[in-house]
Amino acid sequence: MSVTVRVPAKVNVQLAVGGARPDGFHDLANVFLAVGLYDEVTATPADELRVTCAGPGAGQVPLDRTNLAARAALALAERHGLDVDADAAVHLHIDKDIPVAGGMAGGSADAAGALLACDALWGTRASRDELLEICAELGSDVPFSLVGGAALGTGRGERLRPLDVGGTFHWVFAVADGGLSTPAVYREFDRLGEGIVIPEPAASEDLLAALAKGDTDALAATLANDLQPAALSLFPSLTDTLAAGRAAGALAGLVSGSGPTTAFLARDAESAQAVAAALLASGTCRATRVADSPAPGATVIRRTG
Ligand code: C5P
Repeated sequence: MSVTVRVPAKVNVQLAVGGARPDGFHDLANVFLAVGLYDEVTATPADELRVTCAGPGAGQVPLDRTNLAARAALALAERHGLDVDADAAVHLHIDKDIPVAGGMAGGSADAAGALLACDALWGTRASRDELLEICAELGSDVPFSLVGGAALGTGRGERLRPLDVGGTFHWVFAVADGGLSTPAVYREFDRLGEGIVIPEPAASEDLLAALAKGDTDALAATLANDLQPAALSLFPSLTDTLAAGRAAGALAGLVSGSGPTTAFLARDAESAQAVAAALLASGTCRATRVADSPAPGATVIRRTG
């Protein structure tokens, strides 16, 4: 018996960041859009809780209980009185396609995937609300990985309001050589903002209207990421990647979340392929990926046994 769940990556089309809160987190207005790049998480009964990972960047993924997917399984088991060191022992295998440590919520995707896979494997039948609650405990971006589509995240990003998307958007992602730590990028945001009054984060009405209409030009004109200056400060060569993408014909480009992946909006699928080829040829990134949005959230795609 095994259950496989497919989970999408995300790009933040708007990431408005407020000042640091007393708990160290930042209030956000975070407009998430799921993109069609997926990790797959397979849960299979085993003798002990075990995590394995295959695919690009798999070597950087921790395989112990600090892995967010393992923590998701532990959290669900604990709530339902199951013991992952006994009857509920599970092998979680992650097939990675989302860039690792890239600002595209790959770790969050694996957590949401493991949660849904274990829920199906164990027959715990957690409600949607319970799953979302566990996701929020695991990380700010995890609830969105479960729901997919498009959503406005407030609070630290975990309180979600689904958003309408009226068309398909075509993206190119430039994968950087190296990673960025999300806490380090937020710390740099705080350092750059010292002495400046930071306004309350708010979603842009123009951006929400662009999403709802499926208007690529309007979305290109409103893309915004308040973490971008901090990511560029820690990873200056991303400035060259952004310039190369724009020179290659992208309508707009920005750092994805806390980076260092950069995201470029293209007019159509053909233009996305051309931008990807030119970006790779520019030598300013390690790899490129083309993907469309919106994409569905975590979904069971296979059950065996
Ligand atoms: O919630 P998550 O574990 O993904 O957050 C990782 C880190 O990113 C936090 O420890 C914090 O440093 C930073 N963060 C933040 N404000 C948020 C979300 C994340 O400061 N809203």
